[in-house]
Amino acid sequence: MKTAHAVAHSNIALCKYWGKRIDAPVELNLPATGSLSLTLDGLWTETEVGPSASDRFVLDDVTHGDDAARKVFAQLDRLWRAAGHQGARPAALVRSTNHLPTAAGLASSASGFAALTLAGMAAFEGDLDRTRLSALARMGSGSAARSLWGGFVRLDRGNRPDGEDCVARPLLGTDHWDVRLVVVQTTAGKKVIGSTAGMERSRTTSPYYGAWVEGSVSDLDRAQAALLARDLPTLGAIVEHSCFKMHACMLASSPPFLYWNGTTVEVMRAAWSARAEGLEGYVTIDAGPHVKVLCTSATAATWAKRLGELPGVVAVQTCAPGPDAHVEVRP
Ligand code: DP6
Repeated sequence: MKTAHAVAHSNIALCKYWGKRIDAPVELNLPATGSLSLTLDGLWTETEVGPSASDRFVLDDVTHGDDAARKVFAQLDRLWRAAGHQGARPAALVRSTNHLPTAAGLASSASGFAALTLAGMAAFEGDLDRTRLSALARMGSGSAARSLWGGFVRLDRGNRPDGEDCVARPLLGTDHWDVRLVVVQTTAGKKVIGSTAGMERSRTTSPYYGAWVEGSVSDLDRAQAALLARDLPTLGAIVEHSCFKMHACMLASSPPFLYWNGTTVEVMRAAWSARAEGLEGYVTIDAGPHVKVLCTSATAATWAKRLGELPGVVAVQTCAPGPDAHVEVRP
């Protein structure tokens, strides 16, 4: 076993993944909806995987022995087998650092599992292409499948029960379009419910779930066309609709759940007022309280200032399209 060091950037879904397919093994973690994302330059995870006397997971300089560690080592087991090895996996030290703003609550599982997958496979000296690595990253966390690449990435849900047609692919590179994502952090509270559990509750109890899954197909194709045409008003309308259909699906679950706080709503409303006044930008929110605004590079500073002044906003970070994930094997 070698020591390998990987860097993967976080991504934000412009068309969301929410829900898992139930016609396939749970282990494959196949999404019920395809998704389209933008990889972000300012938010990333670096992870080193190397030999050790026993399994140890250190995240941001703190050793973890909890659920997070179990998921990390389950992923290493998967990578060991996928690299073609038989028998027991060698023990490993996984050292990971999140370069995400400290008030966090910002998704780290996407960049985290992408970096872990790249570093783990290189440490186990496996020779798999990026598409296969992306499928392995997806088994750790669905959104991680998209963080193998920079720029704009599409993850198709596929239909095959073996999941072979559920693949992520880079659509357009970082130089395609000079857009920005203004990430507005609202006061972080404890997450109401994890994504996996939230998706399951939506699927089993929300009367809107079927409509959500059905509508996602055309959202994805229309978003891709708007992206190719660099048509921000059309893309932005789809981005907002995808986001709020997903949150409506959560609200209509039983019991209902909502990731927003009061500031989330204030930021959303302020963004819509600004747009009504002619400042172009579109809102998206994930399984957390923070608000992200998709806009052009020319308006990003105005957006950041305007939303950063709102009460309850803790920090604002403007992200450009980010690069591919990469890995190096250390001597
Ligand atoms: C709202 O990728 O965290 O951010 O596959 O269960 O680990 P698991 O879920 P995860 O879910 C991401 C949900 C989302 C939308 C998205 O990123 O597409």
